[in-house]
Amino acid sequence: MSATFAQPPVGDPCFTESYSRVILKQRVFQEIGQIVYKACGIRLVHGKEELVRSRLLKRLRALGLPNFEVYMHYVKDKKNEQELKVMIESLTTNKTSFFRENPHFEYMRTSILPGLIARGSGVRIWSAGCSSGEEPYSIAILLDEEWPCLNRSDLRILATDISTPILEKARKGEYEKELLMGIPAYFREKYFSRILSAPVPTFRINDSIKKMVRFANLNLMAPWPMKGSFDLIFCRNVMIYFDHATQQELVRRFYDILVPGGYLMVGHSESLIASDCDLKYIRPATYMRE
Ligand SMILES: C[S@@+](CC[C@H](N)C(=O)[O-])C[C@H]1O[C@@H](n2cnc3c(N)ncnc32)[C@H](O)[C@@H]1O
Repeated sequence: MSATFAQPPVGDPCFTESYSRVILKQRVFQEIGQIVYKACGIRLVHGKEELVRSRLLKRLRALGLPNFEVYMHYVKDKKNEQELKVMIESLTTNKTSFFRENPHFEYMRTSILPGLIARGSGVRIWSAGCSSGEEPYSIAILLDEEWPCLNRSDLRILATDISTPILEKARKGEYEKELLMGIPAYFREKYFSRILSAPVPTFRINDSIKKMVRFANLNLMAPWPMKGSFDLIFCRNVMIYFDHATQQELVRRFYDILVPGGYLMVGHSESLIASDCDLKYIRPATYMRE
């Protein structure tokens, strides 16, 4: 079915009020869950109904659609192919921060990078599920801080995510002051500059750091176009949204794309996922391909 609907008058209080009464039926929630799982591995488990409803209500409102049943027809209509991507983007969780789970960065600084750099054959790092860029920029800052003379052409930091809007944000590299609270003041001063024209205190990451990171749109469930392998993969707080079978398959693919001696870092709450794969446990949430 394809249908056209009049756009609602923006800010019309009656319209907003009517949307607050739109119900997401269990059957439709399950259908959304199946579609999202198939497309990107994210599991919408029981309990997520209200989150799905509130996030997708914004899409109903933007498209002028009256309820979730009609929205699902819209998503499945071949003419609206792009909406599946928008739906997934609306449902992803993008929470992140600079130097999140700092022990990973400390371990990288003290125990992984010195050996890699001494080896002299370049360093390849992948931030898989990079969200708005804080994770790959933290990696770049750390490298610049500790190894300022490292030749930039010997370094690759690839940062990928499924969400196009979040990658746009990452590429911009602009962060409100509160988002920089967790990093040392010295880093703020050295690696960011204040955007004077911004209405609220906002800082932009320096171009020298931006240039160290290459951002790309990638669904981890799809084939990976990258050539060559990685010395270090960060895939933190991403697999937490996948089921066990999907996690296992992904970890297997990470294994294949790591060099022998390469590391996989996962989120601290995900540390069980490698229990049945060939990676060696090194320390909490850190694994190595032997
Ligand atoms: C909670 S954020 C984690 C960001 C960062 N890694 C960290 O730990 O701070 C999870 C990110 O994974 C992305 N993501 C979820 N499913 C994905 C998939 N199938 N392929 C690629 N990225 C995905 C989301 O868009 C989101 O930006």
